[in-house]
Amino acid sequence: MKKTILITGVAGFIGSNLADRLLKEKKYRIIGIDNLSYGIKEQIPGGVEFYKLDIRSKNIYPIFENVDYVFHLAAKNCISDCQIDPVETSDINITGTLNVFEASRLARIKKIIYAESAAVYEGCIKLPSTEKESAPESFYAISKKATALLANAYKRYFNVDSTALRYFCVYGPRQDYRRTIPPLFSAFIINLLQGNIPTIYGTGEKRRDFVHVDDVNDFHIQCIEDEKTNNQVFNLGSGKSFSVNEMYTMISQILHLDVKPMYKNDLPGEALETLADASKAKNIGWKQKTDIITGIHSMIDYIKNEMVKGNITTNKPTLRQAQGERQALV
Ligand SMILES: NC(=O)c1ccc[n+]([C@@H]2O[C@H](COP(=O)([O-])OP(=O)(O)OC[C@H]3O[C@@H](n4cnc5c(N)ncnc54)[C@H](O)[C@@H]3O)[C@@H](O)[C@H]2O)c1
Repeated sequence: MKKTILITGVAGFIGSNLADRLLKEKKYRIIGIDNLSYGIKEQIPGGVEFYKLDIRSKNIYPIFENVDYVFHLAAKNCISDCQIDPVETSDINITGTLNVFEASRLARIKKIIYAESAAVYEGCIKLPSTEKESAPESFYAISKKATALLANAYKRYFNVDSTALRYFCVYGPRQDYRRTIPPLFSAFIINLLQGNIPTIYGTGEKRRDFVHVDDVNDFHIQCIEDEKTNNQVFNLGSGKSFSVNEMYTMISQILHLDVKPMYKNDLPGEALETLADASKAKNIGWKQKTDIITGIHSMIDYIKNEMVKGNITTNKPTLRQAQGERQALV
């Protein structure tokens, strides 16, 4: 019989890619929850039983009945947005997560696999980061660390199994380019292809460890069945970091374009460098298959294709951008 998997945040970048991948495996029934605050309904793959609900609502409880595994990905997750509204950040990321764990406990689900973040390393000095450390500083990182503490308590008091995933900078198809501050890959590629001047915040010397969503999904699948992942935390990153300027140069060279970027004031609450020590995941068989150049090529192909289909336009501000701009003025 097919196992039932519930994904929170299914309309988002990682959630929709995960749903796609699990459906392709043909052995799972997929249920998805999202309040569509950031996610896009149209990118939820057909075949997902979708409920437009907020993870903070008790109305999610009946949906957890007969679910085997939960992937909890829903979150408020743009660091600069979280810095502007710490109360909502904690409400969604801590109270919402608590509600998901409670729904899972009541429904006796087998395991919750949930998104932590490499942001919990932002105050750590030593690089590469190993799972033993953490020093969250920003409101987003603090909310993610709190998620892990809740998971520990659900194991201790209710024997609920879980796995924490500390994603580094995940990239791939369906990254939300409409954000106030869009992810680097889509921001650079879309603007360069449209003949606009891309923006770099700060000096461009901050370094990031990028990992492709397909590689992250390999580990998601492993977490479902592999009990060695139970009640453990895993870094998912490439172990290499690139500066924003280096990324800009690589993308420009691949596109054969020579456009000087515009430099703007730095964003608050962001670490100077992220770099994963992913040996814990590698020691139980995970491999990062997509190198950065292959990843850039595949992102360019994806974005060009979406432009041809008319799915990527930046002519008019979306509700999301309008909300973001309003927040930034508060
Ligand atoms: N993308 C990355 O590089 C990265 C890195 C580290 C951690 N993470 C974590 O991974 C998870 C997924 O990230 P993503 O990049 O897919 O983000 P995303 O914003 O694309 O997806 C998150 C989804 O959660 C939904 N959501 C937000 N608040 C909700 C609520 N109250 N109720 C129901 N749904 C709600 C949004 O509508 C959105 O569809 C998040 O928890 C994020 O913090 C992502």
